[in-house]
Amino acid sequence: MSERTLVLVKPDGVRRGVVGDVISRIERKGLKIIAMEMRTLSRETAEDHYGEHRERPFFGELVDFITGGPLVAMVVEGPRAIEAFRALAGATDPVKAAPGTIRGDHALEIGENIVHGSDSPESAAREIKLFFPELA
Ligand code: PPS
Repeated sequence: MSERTLVLVKPDGVRRGVVGDVISRIERKGLKIIAMEMRTLSRETAEDHYGEHRERPFFGELVDFITGGPLVAMVVEGPRAIEAFRALAGATDPVKAAPGTIRGDHALEIGENIVHGSDSPESAAREIKLFFPELA
């Protein structure tokens, strides 16, 4: 059964020039990119996207960071796509992320961890609707 997930190459990933590497890992795995767009998020969209983290101490920093430059948003589809992409991404803390994963290979700081992937079917549905309402 096929599933969809929202993937972001965050502004640090765009600045570092790893968009192609992320796309290539997604495609090599056999997942399919069914929508993709580069854009700079408004604070409103960013606060919506990370709404569940509003009370956390780093929320302001997270919103500043994600709105700080263009990002690439994609909808990725395939069997267990949510779990499959999170395995490609590696642990949220890039120092703990295994070498060979996106974060394990490209990042060192939790606040600049290159990619985002939805963490559940409910989050995926909400996030896809926010970024690509035409697909919802
Ligand atoms: S996860 O993967 O959702 O379980 O991670 P979580 O720890 O709940 O973190 C939620 C998002 O906040 C980011 N994050 C941080 N940003 C800045 N500073 C600190 N200290 C920090 N800790 C976590 C983390 O990367 C998650 O964002 P996404 O976009 O989902 O990766």
